[in-house]
Amino acid sequence: MNSNNRLLEVRNLKKWFGVERGIFKRSVSNIKAVDGVSFHINKGEILGLVGESGSGKTTIGKMLVGLLNPTQGTILFKDRDVSTMKRSRLGLKLQIIFQNPFSSLNPKLSVGTIIGEAVRLNNRTGDNKHAQENVMQATKRLLQTVGLPGHVVNDYPHQFSGGQRQRIGIARALAMDPELIIADEPVSSLDISIQAQILNLLSDLKDKYGLSYLLITHDLNVVRHVCERVMVMRNGKIVEEGVTSSVYNNPEHPYTEKLLSSIPELPL
Ligand SMILES: Nc1ncnc2c1ncn2[C@@H]1O[C@H](COP(=O)(O)OP(=O)(O)O)[C@@H](O)[C@H]1O
Ligand SMILES: [Mg+2]
Repeated sequence: MNSNNRLLEVRNLKKWFGVERGIFKRSVSNIKAVDGVSFHINKGEILGLVGESGSGKTTIGKMLVGLLNPTQGTILFKDRDVSTMKRSRLGLKLQIIFQNPFSSLNPKLSVGTIIGEAVRLNNRTGDNKHAQENVMQATKRLLQTVGLPGHVVNDYPHQFSGGQRQRIGIARALAMDPELIIADEPVSSLDISIQAQILNLLSDLKDKYGLSYLLITHDLNVVRHVCERVMVMRNGKIVEEGVTSSVYNNPEHPYTEKLLSSIPELPL
């Protein structure tokens, strides 16, 4: 792989959270949530990030999209240091999808409004009648892209199932025309059969729009069939990284082995 193929590069990334301890909260100790992590994501790649709950996965995702500032380290997006990029510009290129789409979708807004806002933000359209009509058309197209009928623009988040809500979350992310999507436990709250549908959708969208993903999950079955490469995280550090099939078949780190032995075998 030459370096032109590199979309994101992370060098020695750290995030320490200060936590007050003791009855009088006089002492502050640090939780090293992310403790010196380096990796890269190539264009068109789905990179998996797995590890137990609390290992630091979400903290990495939040730093990548600018929701948290790193304690130390560098994040390069297409060779540019993201700390020098405007948050709004970065937000268009990197989108994050969370585990629970319900909490991130405003229950008071219709689906058309939720996605339409993102379309407007990205296209900087005005508010005249013609522009409104264009936004509505684009919103319906996005819904169809994620497998929902256009007429649901008038419905509200509570009217949808978990899987459908995740589709809405994905449509909203797509409205920004992103190049990299951080998918943080995107299927963890869904039934197994629905999980497969959403993972297939993400994979189809990758091909259709030339997207790349960082797929974060505690569930090794999720990365198994979707990710070319996988990183295993434990206590803020990446303990193993490699081509998914080799990591699965010949885990080098005892922790990876432990994670693998604790998952039930799923039929292919
Ligand atoms: N805002 C915060 N303040 C203090 N500690 C935090 C904060 N966010 C996360 N942590 C801690 O950082 C560690 C990693 O958390 P997280 O990145 O959410 O892990 P994961 O996504 O792998 O479950 C955990 O010990 C968590 O309690
Ligand atoms: Mg998490």
